[in-house]
Amino acid sequence: MDLGLAGKTAVITGASKGIGLATARCFLQEGARVAICARHEEAIRAAAGELSPLGEVLPFTGDMTRQEDVEAFADAALSRFGRVDCWINNVGASVRRAGAAYTPDEIRRTVDVCFTSAVYGCQAAGRVLGRGGVIVNISSLAARCGTAGRSTLYGPLKAAVSHLAVMFAAEYASRGIRAVSVLPGFTITPAVRAGIAPEELKRNEAGTLLRRMADPSEIARPIVFLCSDAASYITATSLEVSGGRSVILNPEFVGEGDGTP
Ligand SMILES: NC(=O)c1ccc[n+]([C@@H]2O[C@H](COP(=O)([O-])OP(=O)(O)OC[C@H]3O[C@@H](n4cnc5c(N)ncnc54)[C@H](OP(=O)(O)O)[C@@H]3O)[C@@H](O)[C@H]2O)c1
Repeated sequence: MDLGLAGKTAVITGASKGIGLATARCFLQEGARVAICARHEEAIRAAAGELSPLGEVLPFTGDMTRQEDVEAFADAALSRFGRVDCWINNVGASVRRAGAAYTPDEIRRTVDVCFTSAVYGCQAAGRVLGRGGVIVNISSLAARCGTAGRSTLYGPLKAAVSHLAVMFAAEYASRGIRAVSVLPGFTITPAVRAGIAPEELKRNEAGTLLRRMADPSEIARPIVFLCSDAASYITATSLEVSGGRSVILNPEFVGEGDGTP
């Protein structure tokens, strides 16, 4: 199947590592050009160096919780490539915190990184996509399933990120722009390795139908598919990519049941 992405441009926020970096690699493998950003200049330059044998890469240093940085990133991509076709709002992070413990500053920072960055991204995308294009908001399985006792604000904000895609899909539809969200389940990225204890990861694997976490490339490929011509009738919806984490109440019995109620 020809995804029709050769020669197109994808802008990916938060792409020096993890899902964003894997998504950039996947776009390049399809013949697209990519603009990638992160806050740490050395890291985004290193990522660009790693990716550049695959195609044209524009690294940008900026903080996507600041509107002027998001707009400058959009301008840099447009002036380098002359067009932008796909915009991926990938920036997001969770801190381990129970709801009652968040300080006002932590609330503000969590809202900024998980939600405001995506709003700024959708606004900038609307400006540079012109007529036609795709926006993908990276949400989370946590938007659909509660994560008791940890990162209480993360799930509600990711639910908002998914709904944001629906709203912008409606507002931009007449310009031929589609907008969707992707809900990854547990994915082996630097953030997950650093923030979640090995025992908790094992429990999560046991609760997943496929009995393992995702490789970032397994999230990247559906993102790229959603940006492609092959997904031309998909908009204002979300795609869960979780290995079947959210659907079975007793995953410990999967494949082992004898039919006894
Ligand atoms: N990994 C999972 O299991 C999982 C599951 C569900 C959803 N997600 C979502 O998927 C997305 C990516 O997650 P990940 O695990 O790949 O994260 P990650 O490994 O921590 O990578 C995050 C990337 O974003 C950049 N970044 C962070 N804050 C930024 C900001 N304010 N402005 C610009 N760049 C910023 C980081 O670089 P700098 O630090 O240099 O800025 C890095 O390149 C997030 O939205 C996350 O919530 C992840």
